[in-house]
Amino acid sequence: MVNYKDLGLVNTREMFKRAINGGYAIPAFNFNNMEQLQAIIKASSDMKSPVILQVSKGARNYANATLLRYMAQGAVEYAKELGCAHPEIALHLDHGDSFETCKSCVDYGFSSVMIDGSSLPYEENIALTKKVVEYAHQFDVTVEAELGVLAGVEDEVAAAESHYTKPEEVIDFATRTGCDSLAISIGTSHGAYKFTPEQCTRDPKTGKLVPPPLAFDVLDAIMEKLPGFPIVLHGSSSVPQEYVDIINEHGGKLPDAVGIPEEQLRKASKSAVCKINIDSDSRLAFTAAVRKVFDEKPGEFDPRKYCGPARDEMEKMYKHKIVDVLGSDNKLAQLD
Ligand code: G3H
Ligand code: 13P
Ligand code: ZN
Repeated sequence: MVNYKDLGLVNTREMFKRAINGGYAIPAFNFNNMEQLQAIIKASSDMKSPVILQVSKGARNYANATLLRYMAQGAVEYAKELGCAHPEIALHLDHGDSFETCKSCVDYGFSSVMIDGSSLPYEENIALTKKVVEYAHQFDVTVEAELGVLAGVEDEVAAAESHYTKPEEVIDFATRTGCDSLAISIGTSHGAYKFTPEQCTRDPKTGKLVPPPLAFDVLDAIMEKLPGFPIVLHGSSSVPQEYVDIINEHGGKLPDAVGIPEEQLRKASKSAVCKINIDSDSRLAFTAAVRKVFDEKPGEFDPRKYCGPARDEMEKMYKHKIVDVLGSDNKLAQLD
């Protein structure tokens, strides 16, 4: 049993409280490898932003759970080396699918876990979430739950309102589970194809897809039911078209990839939405940089020569999200 406090990590409670009161959101960036982690820590330390390092089940399988935890511990030391004397870094399980996975992360030094019971019937979601909360809170680990189903383009009824979080359920859910934050569904979705072309309009000048707006009316109704309660947005990559273009120009094939416009995330950040999840944008930044090097320098075979530019591009992207979209720069409790 390792407690996250011994690793220099923090849970999400205080950072969320300050984010809601201050009208900004904390970035939650997924990582699977060293370059992503380096870029996240460099960006958040330089910008003096609290940050949530997210580890998915896929990341645990890909990179090894033990290694990832030590990498997060190393990240705290790296942030200090970069001049952040008091970094605020949470290590969070993304989309935990069982009590056992959540327990193992709590026991392993995670400071926050998500139990994603959103695909379960309502009462089963409550029972599972409550069980995770009861265990995690013994160790002061915070718990994110999910209510409502995030649409996917594979889903026939992607934008159907029946998938959105039902505002009339949130008080009962939050009260009975005791969760610390709630991921909601208001039209975001995972991946680089968040909307089908049929759900979008097309910009006549660029030919690019313009996605439909998020359901801010649902968010407002949820906030009215749970004033000041921490709300989380998953699936919040913007799918920057400059990366899509670079990828497509250098041998890739991502037709009609489309994300959530940044101005909508900026608007959400000013509300009780205090955690915004971004993974796909990092994958796109990485892939764009690597494809460019491979295309322009076919003789290159030193991974540092293409992973290095990929890391730089991700750092640039993370800084942009922190400063220009989420507004979490200079928000560490102790800036010196
Ligand atoms: O929500 C999903 C995250 O983007 C993680 O994706 O399961 O492929 O690691 P993954
Ligand atoms: P994106 O695929 O939009 O980056 O969402 C990531 C996410 O929600 C991780 O939980
Ligand atoms: Zn997610």
